[in-house]
Amino acid sequence: MIIALGCDHIVTDEKTYLHDRLEEAGYEVLDLGTYSHTRTHYPIYGKAVGEAVASGRADLGVVLCGTGIGMAVAADKVSGVRASSITSPAFADLFRQHNNGNVVCLSGRFVDLEVNKEIVKTFLTTEFEGGRHEARVAKIMALD
Ligand code: RB5
Repeated sequence: MIIALGCDHIVTDEKTYLHDRLEEAGYEVLDLGTYSHTRTHYPIYGKAVGEAVASGRADLGVVLCGTGIGMAVAADKVSGVRASSITSPAFADLFRQHNNGNVVCLSGRFVDLEVNKEIVKTFLTTEFEGGRHEARVAKIMALD
């Protein structure tokens, strides 16, 4: 499975940590930056990861910024993307099961790194439930 990864300059170290954990777990990582602490703009990376997922270049996306909120707003603008700011493994579980989320957006500043690691693990290992959620997700996608 290929995971597109992105962050802004606030949380580069947290992205590096998750990158390493993902590779250790056997995932192929498509790291789309940023790669330093030089001030940049989170929508660049939200867009890049969103486009990688929407095009099929990656299976799922993981992005981080200070809050996770800006990344979610940006990535969700990309057609085909269902992105959300997620702050607990329980929400990651439901984001996959009910919303078929494909880009998880993490807060590097307000959520503990180990919790983010668990969120990512849950996000990557939980399947969309389908069934009654199919029509709801289809209605979301019709808004694209
Ligand atoms: C960067 O200053 C900060 O705004 C960003 O990391 C994020 O929290 C935006 O939502």
